[in-house]
Amino acid sequence: MLRLEHISHFYGQEGILHDISLEIEEGSFTVITGESGSGKSTLLSIVSTLLKPTEGKLYFDGLESRDIRHLNRFRKEEIGFVFQFHYLISHLTVYENIAMASNRTRQEIEALLTSLDIAELSGKYPDEISGGQRQRAAIARAMINEPKYIFADEPTGNLDSGNSQIVFDLLRGLDATVIVASHDHSKIKPTDRVITLKDGRLC
Ligand SMILES: Nc1ncnc2c1ncn2[C@@H]1O[C@H](COP(=O)(O)OP(=O)(O)OP(=O)(O)O)[C@@H](O)[C@H]1O
Ligand SMILES: [Mg+2]
Repeated sequence: MLRLEHISHFYGQEGILHDISLEIEEGSFTVITGESGSGKSTLLSIVSTLLKPTEGKLYFDGLESRDIRHLNRFRKEEIGFVFQFHYLISHLTVYENIAMASNRTRQEIEALLTSLDIAELSGKYPDEISGGQRQRAAIARAMINEPKYIFADEPTGNLDSGNSQIVFDLLRGLDATVIVASHDHSKIKPTDRVITLKDGRLC
């Protein structure tokens, strides 16, 4: 379980997040939503260990994030990151992009690509495939080490509605604790956990 206790964040004098406490169940799918500037990316950066909050504590299965001794290893082994821009390397194929992020065999990588319905794109370069396919490749890269947590910031920000639906459904179906920051509520399902921010506060 992931737990936030009284998290606040400031940039200089400006309060960006205010006293956020919440718990995220293992294996759940959570969407952080809210208007532009409400603090979604900041909150996601904090829960994904990329940004240290000014105040408050973050726990992974009871272990406080500041007590994680090998934070780089923890990120590498336990966390998968997906961003609005896919950040695939343009000079490498889809397969090579994923292979460089892991020690998995070709067979394992191909199996993952098949499960994401992009097996036929394995040898293609990012420029040769569609935006939705690129985002699926980025999700494959985030998943290849079977992380416990997947954090995605506006993963559908550059996609049309159909591809957004595909990416949301894919993230929702992953065997991990998944948190997505997205201003697009049209893809939320009643079974999703929804966290709404307004001016840096839970509402
Ligand atoms: N590095 C920074 N320095 C100063 N202020 C920042 C910084 N990053 C974000 N902010 C401010 O924090 C607030 C929240 O930003 P954040 O990016 O978390 O919002 P968001 O909800 O993700 O917005 P969007 O939907 O546009 O992505 C904004 O007012 C933003 O200007
Ligand atoms: Mg954002």
